Amino acid sequence: MNALKRRIRQVLQHAGYELYRQPAGAYGDVRRRLTYTEAQCYNALANRAQLSISEGRLLGDLVRSTDTTRPIIEIGTLFGFSTIVISLFKQRQQPLITVDNYCWNPLGISPDVHYEITKNRLAEVVAKHNARLLRMDKNDFYRTYDGPPPALFFCDADHSYEATKRDIMWAQSVGASIICGDDYDLASEPGVRRAVDELGGPRQLADGLFVL
Ligand SMILES: C[S@@+](CC[C@H](N)C(=O)[O-])C[C@H]1O[C@@H](n2cnc3c(N)ncnc32)[C@H](O)[C@@H]1O
Repeated sequence: MNALKRRIRQVLQHAGYELYRQPAGAYGDVRRRLTYTEAQCYNALANRAQLSISEGRLLGDLVRSTDTTRPIIEIGTLFGFSTIVISLFKQRQQPLITVDNYCWNPLGISPDVHYEITKNRLAEVVAKHNARLLRMDKNDFYRTYDGPPPALFFCDADHSYEATKRDIMWAQSVGASIICGDDYDLASEPGVRRAVDELGGPRQLADGLFVL
């Protein structure tokens, strides 16, 4: 059965079509069935995987307070929403490195397409605001980073306890001045809170954005 479904999907895709089954009750107050295009627009524009406004404001304040001669490092680019927030508040010449391996996104699109969309969306910050987009696993980045101590480290990637602890401890080991991250408040991912609390707890918090 699965092989048959896969074959049908391949044939349709080859002809430029895609099979889509809308999950029940997933689109707020819209009662009728959405077209595929409408559903993808809803998923893309209303997804909650990126920073809230309160989180963005705190991140902006932190960025503004940094030593502008040293880089800002972001782990977890997704579609670049937090990258844009950081870019809006940093000095144009302050280096920004944003790292993602494109293993996850809320739309279920492939890593290659996810990367292309993000690269396009962030083309201006790369071209004119001294940002670098790195497509790589964060652990490879940690292993190979040989730049100056970051002025600010922002982690928003893998929210397990072990990964969050590793992210923060790496930032501490390279002398990051400000260490912050997202999803301290996420009930479904209690690992962030546990790791942050073990390492001293948040000294500032806005929604889920913690500052160590
Ligand atoms: C919650 S999203 C980031 C949201 C983004 N910071 C924002 O506010 O717009 C998490 C991102 O982390 C990335 N990610 C997860 N594990 C990773 C890893 N081991 N290395 C690099 N990126 C990873 C995913 O591909 C995803 O794009």
